[in-house]
Amino acid sequence: MPRYYVIRGEKVALSLISREDLSLFVSWLNDPEVNIYLSMRRLITPEGEEEWYESVRRDPSKRQFSIVALPEEEVIGVVGLDRIDPYDGSAMFGIFLGRKEYWGKGYGTEATILMLDYAFNILGLHHVWLIVKDFNERAIRCYKKAGFKEVGRLRKAVLQPDGRHDVIIMDVLAREFNEAHESAFKKIQEKA
Ligand SMILES: CC(C)(COP(=O)(O)OP(=O)(O)OC[C@H]1O[C@@H](n2cnc3c(N)ncnc32)[C@H](O)[C@@H]1OP(=O)(O)O)[C@@H](O)C(=O)NCCC(=O)NCCS
Repeated sequence: MPRYYVIRGEKVALSLISREDLSLFVSWLNDPEVNIYLSMRRLITPEGEEEWYESVRRDPSKRQFSIVALPEEEVIGVVGLDRIDPYDGSAMFGIFLGRKEYWGKGYGTEATILMLDYAFNILGLHHVWLIVKDFNERAIRCYKKAGFKEVGRLRKAVLQPDGRHDVIIMDVLAREFNEAHESAFKKIQEKA
């Protein structure tokens, strides 16, 4: 089935999640090398993932997309927003690349920037925030490149095999994002 891209960059496009992607997501989320970085540490079942998929389709407080690597058009991860609050104009950001061979090559940063562009320039949000474990240096670097700043810490809030770690809270405002990055959506609107 051809994929419909919501937004297309140079290295990645974001597409609507299709049901066929779910079995991949289950295997990635249960991979200990991926799971260690996530806040969701429980075992993910196919049934649980199907429930999540249905909630994404129905719940307007969630927007989740498959990350598709270009030009090979391979699904490599998931990026999205949760807890979208239209009154406050705020949402929580999340991302993971399940295909580890794609880590550290710029795919995550581009997917993050595209998602923030969607959040600020399509949904019209004002504020996007996230949480990240302090040892996840790759993710922290990726988030900073996209425009997030550290705004606080939950001290020793997570237990890892090597001991307790802080959870870093980061956020970015629409104005800050638009000053630092060109919006793909604004470019399309200007052309129309
Ligand atoms: C976090 C994630 C989305 C980042 O995407 P990515 O494509 O790997 O990241 P990018 O290549 O765009 O950027 C990573 C940056 O960190 C740097 N980096 C890579 N490995 C690193 C490491 N071990 N320590 C410190 N920095 C590292 C890269 O050099 C790059 O910075 P640079 O462009 O200045 O050189 C991806 O690695 C991932 O999904 N990881 C597993 C799940 C996860 O951590 N999700 C986030 C939970 S909060």
